[in-house]
Amino acid sequence: MDIPDCSERTVLLTGGTRGIGRFAARKLCAAGATLLLVGRNAERGEATVERMRRAGADAVFLRYDLATQSAVRDLAADVRDRVDRLDALVNNAGLARGNRSRTEENVPTTVAVNHLAPYLLTHELMPLLADSAPSRVVVTASGVHERASLDRTDLDLTGPYEGFDAYARTKLMNVLFVYELADRLRGTDITAAAVHPGFIPSSGLYRDSSVWVRAVMRFLSILPIGQSVEDGGLALAHVACSDEVADAPGHYFDGTDPADPAPAAEDADLRRALWDRSAELVGVDPAWPTVQRKV
Ligand SMILES: NC(=O)c1ccc[n+]([C@@H]2O[C@H](COP(=O)([O-])OP(=O)(O)OC[C@H]3O[C@@H](n4cnc5c(N)ncnc54)[C@H](OP(=O)(O)O)[C@@H]3O)[C@@H](O)[C@H]2O)c1
Repeated sequence: MDIPDCSERTVLLTGGTRGIGRFAARKLCAAGATLLLVGRNAERGEATVERMRRAGADAVFLRYDLATQSAVRDLAADVRDRVDRLDALVNNAGLARGNRSRTEENVPTTVAVNHLAPYLLTHELMPLLADSAPSRVVVTASGVHERASLDRTDLDLTGPYEGFDAYARTKLMNVLFVYELADRLRGTDITAAAVHPGFIPSSGLYRDSSVWVRAVMRFLSILPIGQSVEDGGLALAHVACSDEVADAPGHYFDGTDPADPAPAAEDADLRRALWDRSAELVGVDPAWPTVQRKV
């Protein structure tokens, strides 16, 4: 499958140093996009953009570890300095940790990277996205969000912790975030979309998971079961660039196809509770975005 022409589009993609993000980045560049690729590993990031530049792409690597809120804010400032338009913000970086490490802001790292970083980065770049409309915000969620539930009194997961369950709950947060954002952006030319790229046991996602999860994923990738990194990367590039996405009635994509998310996505109270708690955790006014509606 080919993705549509992306020339004239500037795309910021996080988690582009390996896995589906790296493949999506190549596809987006091959389709003509100007790419800002974010990752925390300089060697892998520079090698990735160098390869794309040799193929004629306009790509730059930005090194930021999205686990800390100061780094997310610095990244947004860096982006605002570098470009005067942003057509797509693709929040793809993610991890699935077996243990509950905490960031310097005392948030579980899984929550910080998978949910709070997309929330804060989208907040910080919303004025640029609004000035660049039609534009879009994409979050790489996962089908595992359907197995997750969230405790309204513990939205930052301070209670009992199991690595894979915590991962699934952050992926539900991605879907809730996108649905609430889409609701708040209704009537504007900014689209919000969450994508399930497929089940891809061969990506690097599970490398910090428990021994048990790592063993299962290794076994499944040998069989092979699930999708390939290339399939997932193509789906992500499609949702980042295709015009069909802006016209779709919903905001969730299974691969390249519009799909229904878990019923929790329609739970307006839960969505708002997560939005407000996230705003509190990153220190922003929850009354965002304030984007002019189309007349
Ligand atoms: N694999 C699956 O089955 C699957 C299914 C559904 C959804 N997803 C989602 O797809 C997305 C990409 O995952 P993947 O499968 O491609 O995994 P991956 O191969 O591990 O890639 C994850 C990317 O995120 C980056 N990243 C992780 N922590 C970061 C941090 N603190 N700051 C900046 N970048 C960070 C990684 O950078 P480094 O190179 O520095 O580690 C890497 O580029 C994730 O959001 C994941 O939840 C995956």
